[in-house]
Amino acid sequence: MTPTDNKATLSFSNGSPSIDMPIYKGTVGPDVIDIRKLYGQTGMFTYDPGFMSTAACNSSITYIDGDKGELLYRGYPIEQLAVNCDFLETCYLLLKGELPNQAQKKEFEFGIMHHTMVNEQMSSFYHGFRRDSHPMAVLVGVVGALSAFYHDSLDINNPEHREISAMRLIAKMPTLVAMAYKYSIGQPFVYPKNDLSYSANFVRMMFSNPCEEYVVNDVLVRALDRILILHADHEQNASTSTVRLSGSSGANPFACIAAGIACLWGPAHGGANEAALNMLLDIQKDGGVEKIGEFVAKVKDKNSSVKLMGFGHRVYKNYDPRAKLMRETCHEVLDALGLHDDPLFKIAMALEKIALEDEYFVSRKLYPNVDFYSGIVQSALGIPTSLFTAIFALARTVGWIAQWNEMISDPEQKIGRPRQLFVGATTRDVVPLAKRA
Ligand code: CMC
Repeated sequence: MTPTDNKATLSFSNGSPSIDMPIYKGTVGPDVIDIRKLYGQTGMFTYDPGFMSTAACNSSITYIDGDKGELLYRGYPIEQLAVNCDFLETCYLLLKGELPNQAQKKEFEFGIMHHTMVNEQMSSFYHGFRRDSHPMAVLVGVVGALSAFYHDSLDINNPEHREISAMRLIAKMPTLVAMAYKYSIGQPFVYPKNDLSYSANFVRMMFSNPCEEYVVNDVLVRALDRILILHADHEQNASTSTVRLSGSSGANPFACIAAGIACLWGPAHGGANEAALNMLLDIQKDGGVEKIGEFVAKVKDKNSSVKLMGFGHRVYKNYDPRAKLMRETCHEVLDALGLHDDPLFKIAMALEKIALEDEYFVSRKLYPNVDFYSGIVQSALGIPTSLFTAIFALARTVGWIAQWNEMISDPEQKIGRPRQLFVGATTRDVVPLAKRA
């Protein structure tokens, strides 16, 4: 954060004295006005529901230019990372700030792949759930429960404890997600196999069973690895801000990530990939491509609450760069699996075409986001719809933990405590029950 010579002056129409506020510069992106002393100097708060104009922290992890449709992890464009790196290299980059060299990569992979197993007692948690529980409900529970198993690494002020917690979370998420899936279909849990790559190990834990030999399909692994890279971090979105806010009280990392998972579940955030696929399935059920016009009319009708799921974004007012890469992967996967006549993909393409040309979407700068295509890819890979958001959580765990770690190490960090504009009743006296009307 570099102070600038520029200052913002806030003046008032009622004659109260004006005040000057410092302006800071980042390395790129909008400058910020420092309003920390505003309340002390004026007795007033700022009002910004949804944080439309508020930077809650400074960060050097991920940068988004929503107008250009640009996404950088530690300065590297997502397009370059997606084709040159695998997910664990991306994790290393997000956590440590630089891409690993070969020796560093090997050491990091070894570390992650030797923390993949979960305590055997964790399986009892799964057995407490109904078989038809939503995997996100299971994950909120089991990830929070990890804090009960790792008392040896819960000192958040100790960088070594933070590092081992980060490794454990990244390593165990695939195991926990795959266990949620296996439990839901009544199959035995599959233990991790540490000589496989991170994504191949996940695919094997998901789809193999003890009765047959399982050969990992490379197309599947590559597509999954790309999904993980594209979802790994996205600066101060709702779930990341939830992780930071939870962590600001000193809560342990496992509890904070469980809070992030809860936030991610919502359909306006990570739940959108599941909602987008369900939307495509509904259109297919109602008559397919022929009926898209009717569906789009409902989306545009202000009296209906129907939204085009997988479209629109708070920050991107241009094509989401992740959506472009996901669209590419979608084509590759459907081609490789011989599914290019897939009816859902056809509906998706027709919807995309209409929406990119229609005045309603164009004037509001509503473009497809990553979730529009990731659902189709996951569905083609044989991943059930209810698991989509859990896979998003698996991918985002590294972003959450990198952001949490950055916050803990930041000397400016304070417990997060938003203020409010109170509009309720002022002081009044309690009337005893017998005398109340
Ligand atoms: N379908 C139809 N209309 C939309 C949509 C949509 N998907 N998204 C926004 N609009 C309209 C909205 O009704 C409003 O119109 P008007 O100005 O006439 O009132 C205008 O566009 C601006 O929308 P907003 O709700 O003020 O935008 P926001 O920044 O608050 O919301 C959003 C962003 C992502 C919550 C919203 O676009 C949305 O609900 N999209 C569908 C859900 C979705 O795909 N979410 C995934 C986000 S990407 C993954 C992630 O990072 O989690």
